Amino acid sequence: MTESIFQGRSLLSTRDYTKDELMYLIGFAEHLKEMKRQNIEHHYLAGKNIALLFEKTSTRTRAAFTTACIDLGAHPEYLGKNDIQLGKKETVRDTALVLGSMFDGIEFRGFKQEHVEDLAKYSGVPVWNGLTDKEHPTQMLADFMTMKENFGTLEGLTLAYCGQGRNNVQNSLMITSAILGVNYVNATPAELEPDPAIVEVARAFAAKSGATITVTNDPVEAVRHADAVYTNVWAAMGEESQFAERVRLMAPYQVNAELVSHIENPDWIFLHCLPAHRGEEVTAPVIDGPQSVIFDEAENRLHAQKAVLALLMGK
Ligand code: CP
Repeated sequence: MTESIFQGRSLLSTRDYTKDELMYLIGFAEHLKEMKRQNIEHHYLAGKNIALLFEKTSTRTRAAFTTACIDLGAHPEYLGKNDIQLGKKETVRDTALVLGSMFDGIEFRGFKQEHVEDLAKYSGVPVWNGLTDKEHPTQMLADFMTMKENFGTLEGLTLAYCGQGRNNVQNSLMITSAILGVNYVNATPAELEPDPAIVEVARAFAAKSGATITVTNDPVEAVRHADAVYTNVWAAMGEESQFAERVRLMAPYQVNAELVSHIENPDWIFLHCLPAHRGEEVTAPVIDGPQSVIFDEAENRLHAQKAVLALLMGK
C-alpha cells in the first residue's frame, strides 16, 4: 500500500476505509508510538495549521489532537463552542469555507454527523471526526490498536460490548469490528438495541470480512467467548435527563466481578473509551483490575490520531 492513497482524505467514519487502510493506520500509529518512546523527532507537518473545533467537552480527544499536532510540528488552534459562530450566527457551510481558507485541516467534535460531513464537503481540507452523536472513528483506531498490542493480531478475536446499544461508540465499534474481521457481540436490553441501520451496515461489511455480528439481551452469553470486553457510560453527553431510566434498564449489564467470571479466556482485556463512572457501567475492581488496559487505550488516542494527521495531511 502506498501512503499516497491517504493524502487529502477526511475521516468521518471508519466505514469509508478498507480493512487494509485501517490496519495501515494502526501500524503507522504503532511506529509513531515507538518513535515517541525513543525521542525521535517526527515533524512531518511543520508549518501546517490545524483547527480543533469542540462543541462538546473533551479530555482525551482534545489532548491527543493537541499533542499530536505539536509532536508533528503543526500548530493546533482550539476553537470551543463559545469562541466561534458555528451553528449560532453562521451556517456550517460558511464556517467551513472560511476555516478551509486559513487552516490545512479541521477536527470537529459536536452533536450532528451532518455538521462534520458538511465541514468536509465545503472546507476543501481534510476533516476529522472527533465524535458526533453517531460515530467516534478516532476512538476506534486507538481501541483496535490496543487490542492488537495485547493479542499480537486482530485475527480471530471476539469483542463483547456490554452497554447501551444506541450510542456513537457502540455504532463505531460494531462497524469497525465488521470491517476488520473481529467478531462482535452486543449485549444490551431489548429497549436499547442498536439502530437496525447500523446493524445492516455492519453485517454487509461482515459478509466480506468473515466477522460475526451478534445482538443479544444476555450479557453472560456475550462475554463467555470474548477476548476483549468493552463498556461505555449509560447516558452519553446530552442524555443526562434519561439517567434514572437507563440505570433501571442497564443494571443487569454492569461489567462486574460476577459477569467477568464467565469469560473463558484467562488473558481477556477490559476496554473503556472513558470517562468512566465506577459503580455504574463498570465496578472499580474490574476497571482498576489486572485485565484493564484503559490507560494504554487512552494513551493510544495520541498515537492513533497522530497517524491520522500525518498520513491524511502529509506529502
Ligand atoms: N473517549 C473520549 O472521547 O474521551 P473525551 O470525551 O475525554 O475526549
